[in-house]
Amino acid sequence: TGCKLVGCGSAVPSLRVSNNDLAKIVDTNDEWISVRTGIRHRRVLSGKENLTDLAIEAAWKALEMADVPPEDVDLILMCSSTGDDRFGSAPVIQKALGCKRNPLAFDITAACSGFLLGLFSASCYIKAGGFKNVLVIGADAVSRFIDWTDRGSCILFGDAAGAVLVQACDIGEDGLFGFDLHSDGDGKRHLISTFKENETDDASHENHSVTSFPPKCSSYSYLQMNGKEIFKFAVRVVPQSIEAALEKAGLDGSNNFDWLLLHQANQRIIDGIATRLEVPSERVISNLANYGNTSAASIPLALDEAVRDGKVQPGHVIAAAGFGAGLTWASAIFRW
Ligand code: ACO
Repeated sequence: TGCKLVGCGSAVPSLRVSNNDLAKIVDTNDEWISVRTGIRHRRVLSGKENLTDLAIEAAWKALEMADVPPEDVDLILMCSSTGDDRFGSAPVIQKALGCKRNPLAFDITAACSGFLLGLFSASCYIKAGGFKNVLVIGADAVSRFIDWTDRGSCILFGDAAGAVLVQACDIGEDGLFGFDLHSDGDGKRHLISTFKENETDDASHENHSVTSFPPKCSSYSYLQMNGKEIFKFAVRVVPQSIEAALEKAGLDGSNNFDWLLLHQANQRIIDGIATRLEVPSERVISNLANYGNTSAASIPLALDEAVRDGKVQPGHVIAAAGFGAGLTWASAIFRW
């Protein structure tokens, strides 16, 4: 069995926040943000909107494009690190879409690499498990874990959802054909949002005993990031990873694919990786000026825009890579 992408969709919150809006709450300015990151606007969840609604909208659009009814979906993978419910949102999406046969639906947590790990999982479920139509959704609301007084991180992120439908097909039509997947827990300290002991408790590990029972309801810390280390990590590992994925796909060399589609973290990171791979800017997909870094949503969001704009045409080959917290990084070569 082979598998191929047959539909895509995306959704963003209605609130649009400009660099000038951020300059009203932290000591920054439009020029600094634009020059250092390429970002001009981002969308932020507010009011009654929630992340699951964005994910459902993106999934509907992907099903519509593919002309596949929700009852034919047999697996939903929700790739997210910031979901509405820490026990997962995929079953809620399954219910909202009206997938009547109660297909399997669960969440995958791998930050900005989440969507590509979801894509790989979809191909494995189809090729080894007999699944036929798998929705892979990347959706994140990093705004929920941002310290809006930290100018080093609050300028970077936005909220969004993107989705693709991956479908079983004859092996001759296989459109998902090269993956390279990695993690390095050693670098975890560079990007974290960890579970925080309640501050009124004695949080030292030596004294963490039954005397602190019952535990108080605690929460997660704000996102803490060493931007320079993440920058260096991405520019170092991603070109090697894409080359490895191209080799596995039998497509070595930068001229054997049409588009380079990277996780949208920072335009300087995208440019640095493209330069190392010798891919000219005309073949690089970028939409982070409008959305910032949307974590697991960034790759399917940029893909969806490029497909609907007519840039990415049927038959085009895309080299994609995600990278971020964990640390994790993942590359995939696929045909649209
Ligand atoms: N506005 C104005 N000045 C600022 C701002 C700001 N928003 N932020 C930092 N500065 C200042 C700093 O204080 C510093 O001042 P100093 O020289 O007086 O000390 C100066 O600007 C330079 O700061 P740097 O941190 O060295 O700037 P750098 O060029 O490294 O850019 C940035 C910072 C944009 C964060 C960059 O490192 C980056 O994009 N890193 C990657 C981050 C990333 O992609 N993270 C997400 C990964 S994906 C995931 O898994 C969620």
